[in-house]
Amino acid sequence: MSDLSVANNTVTKAFDVEAIRRDFPILAQEINGKPLVYLDNGASAQKPLAVLDAMDRYYREMHSNVHRGAHTLGDRATAAFEGAREIVRHFLNAASTKEVIWTRGTTEAINLVANGLAPRLKAGDEILVSHMEHHANIVPWQMLAERTGAKVVPIQVTPEGELDLDSFNSLLTERTRILAITHVSNVLGTVNPIASLIEQAKKLGVITLIDGAQAVPHFKPDVQALDCDFYVFSAHKLFGPTGIGVLYGRSQLLEEMPPYQGGGEMIERVSFERTTWNVLPYKFEAGTPAIAEAVGLAAAINYMDGLDRKAMEAAENALLVRANELVETVPGMEVIGTAKHKVPVMSFKIAGLHPSDIGTLLDQQGIAIRTGHHCAMPLMDFYGVPGTARASFAFYNTLEEVEKLFTGLQKIQRLFT
Ligand code: ALA
Repeated sequence: MSDLSVANNTVTKAFDVEAIRRDFPILAQEINGKPLVYLDNGASAQKPLAVLDAMDRYYREMHSNVHRGAHTLGDRATAAFEGAREIVRHFLNAASTKEVIWTRGTTEAINLVANGLAPRLKAGDEILVSHMEHHANIVPWQMLAERTGAKVVPIQVTPEGELDLDSFNSLLTERTRILAITHVSNVLGTVNPIASLIEQAKKLGVITLIDGAQAVPHFKPDVQALDCDFYVFSAHKLFGPTGIGVLYGRSQLLEEMPPYQGGGEMIERVSFERTTWNVLPYKFEAGTPAIAEAVGLAAAINYMDGLDRKAMEAAENALLVRANELVETVPGMEVIGTAKHKVPVMSFKIAGLHPSDIGTLLDQQGIAIRTGHHCAMPLMDFYGVPGTARASFAFYNTLEEVEKLFTGLQKIQRLFT
């Protein structure tokens, strides 16, 4: 068995991961008598004190409903809420806050767009997705296809887990109306070359939607440089709260799309004869929004902005490099997803072991990973597996934790095979 002692990694030290960990109180606990090793960040990331404090302060000092204010608290809440929208606009480099729509998460954002694009589709049109999509970027399009007679067409992936560009080139045709693709695969960690995909799609007038849920915890997108029509993500994977997400949409398309839900806030004027819609972004925000959550997301983005991004990316990459080095220390372990350009996500299987048993046995050692199909059944079918075990790392994880994962896997492998 190889030596798992911690390599002297100056990149990680320079990043001062121990100081960063102190910002995340949940990480300092024991699970099943062992220090928690949280490697399920792809499912949901932990929250820094800055987020917890911002939400607490919002509720203690400024909560009221927004945009209705005949009073000071209402004005404070509205300022915090709209200030959060501006922080998200800046994060995405969107041209205007009109293009930043609050949703419940990535899933709702994609459903909103699929619903809004329905009037543009007809029988025979094609919606291009990829074989590595999360169900959230497959099923809403299937439902749209069902309504309109359009067809969902998957771009193939290579055995290494990269997008098959020959498949993309042959499937992108004059029938394609929408390209809906993930920036980063939640299972494989693959970073897709979305800039060039968007560029090619634009030449054919194809509408583009990028699922950024797994990308934004690792890097900042620039929607104007990408020139995509829609970019969607969830706050809870970006170290913010659950229950809120973001739809960036090009304003011209948003103007043309019908509202998603009806109710208060999204209207300009209501009468039984004729109701008219509010301006962007409110046209898509029926009902009282998730105000404290917007404040929490803004705090998460501000927190991330305080980190040295380059050092963070280098530290994350060091985690993946170390994990890859240690694979050979676990007999029968096979990594699924070996793309050249990856975020620190490692899906794997171990011969003779069921993924869910790996998850349960690691949990007994205080190590949290995700197991199962990861809401990506077509990808599981492609690899011929019912599921995988997946360790997904964040910038607050350490090389010691990577090594604990592998020590744990070695133990399990010895015990059960
Ligand atoms: N989509 C999340 C994941 O990949 C839940 O785990």
